[in-house]
Parts: sequence; C-alpha cells; structure tokens
Amino acid sequence: MAKYPHSIDFDFEFDMYKPAASFQVARDLYDVVNRNRDFFRPWLGWVDFVRTPEDEFDVAKSVASENTNKYLLYENMRLRGMVGVVREDVSNKTVEIGYWLDKAANGRGVMTRAVEKVQNLAFEEGNANRVEIRCATENKASRAIPERLNFKLDGILRQAEVLPNGVIHDIAVYSKLRQDWQKGKVK
Ligand SMILES: CC(C)(COP(=O)(O)OP(=O)(O)OC[C@H]1O[C@@H](n2cnc3c(N)ncnc32)[C@H](O)[C@@H]1OP(=O)(O)O)[C@@H](O)C(=O)NCCC(=O)NCCS
Repeated sequence: MAKYPHSIDFDFEFDMYKPAASFQVARDLYDVVNRNRDFFRPWLGWVDFVRTPEDEFDVAKSVASENTNKYLLYENMRLRGMVGVVREDVSNKTVEIGYWLDKAANGRGVMTRAVEKVQNLAFEEGNANRVEIRCATENKASRAIPERLNFKLDGILRQAEVLPNGVIHDIAVYSKLRQDWQKGKVK
C-alpha cells in the first residue's frame, strides 16, 4: 500500500500537511465548512450533511492516515482548505482529485499549487496512470485549476450530478495521463 508524506514543501505562506486526527481538527473542519456554506453549496453536495463537528471526525481520520493522498491547508495555523484523492479506481490506475478552499483564501493560487502537489504524489507514490478532476461546467474557479495545470478536457458528462437541492450540473471531466506528466505537457 502506498505511503504518503506527512507534510509537503509548499514554498508559499501556507502549510500543507496531515494533522493527527483529533476532535480539534474535526471542529476546525466543521467551522470552515460552516463559514462557507453559501459559497460551497452550489458545488459541493455534502455541505448540508455536515451538521456537527462530530460529522467531520471521519474526514479528520482519513486525512491523518499515511495511506491516503489527502492534505489540509493552513494559513498561520488557521485551517483554510482540503485537497486530495476522493476516488480511486485501482484496477484502472485512475484517481480523482477533489478540493475546497475557504473563500477568505481564494484568489492567491494556493489551490492550484496544492492540486499540483497531490497530482505529483498520485503519479510518484500512488502508481496512478490517469489523474482526473471533475467540475460542474459552470464552476469557473474550479475548472481554471486543471486548465492551469495543463490537464486535458476529455468531455462533458451531461446532467451527471444532482445536488440535494435538486440543481443538476453538467460535469466537465479533465485528465492528465502519466505520459503527459512525464513529458511535462499535454499533447
Ligand atoms: C474551486 C476553488 C478551490 C478555487 O479557488 P481559487 O482561489 O480560485 O484557486 P487558487 O487558489 O488556485 O487561486 C487561483 C486564483 O489566484 C490567482 N493567482 C495568484 N497567484 C497565482 C499563482 N501563483 N498560481 C496560480 N494562480 C494564482 C489566479 O489568477 C486566480 O485568480 P482569479 O480567479 O482572479 O483568476 C474555490 O473557489 C472553492 O473552494 N470553491 C468552492 C468549492 C468547489 O467548487 N470545489 C471544487 C469542486 S469540483
């Protein structure tokens, strides 16, 4: 089983690491989600299922594990975001990266850098052949991340996501293949 480093060199004013699972981390996750409900709700269907800090304890445990390619992002010790592999198709050597970032930390390039780190770990440690990012077609800020990182747009899955509030999204599927990553660019 792959092992992922505890912390990542981030060359930025942010820290990217795996804090030990604790009630405090669950509380911090709850607080940042709670502050960002209106910002996240159009894109993240799970937001309103986070009702108490206890609901985030399994997330805190999953991030803490050295066997997951998942990290939290902190700005001056304040939790700002999460990034990591949210789905893995082992037999097809494919992983999907997901992310969210506190609105207060948007617009500074933090998440693009963090996604690049997770992508590199997926190829280097996770033996992935294909890394995917899936975004609602209207989610311009999210789509800009794979586009900045030279992922290729494979196509659009029509009405592929139904949110709990009934909103239906078309989903843009981006990918980067190991061969693209090795060449440092998409053909
Ligand atoms: C999607 C999300 C993470 C994007 O956050 P973001 O701050 O736009 O992304 P980044 O941290 O990479 O920052 C990019 C911005 O910083 C700017 N920037 C500054 N320095 C930069 C650098 N060195 N590298 C890249 N971008 C830089 C970019 O121009 C861009 O600004 P713009 O939007 O004004 O063009 C965030 O909006 C979010 O969490 N949304 C809600 C949840 C969500 O949609 N999750 C994804 C579901 S698929």
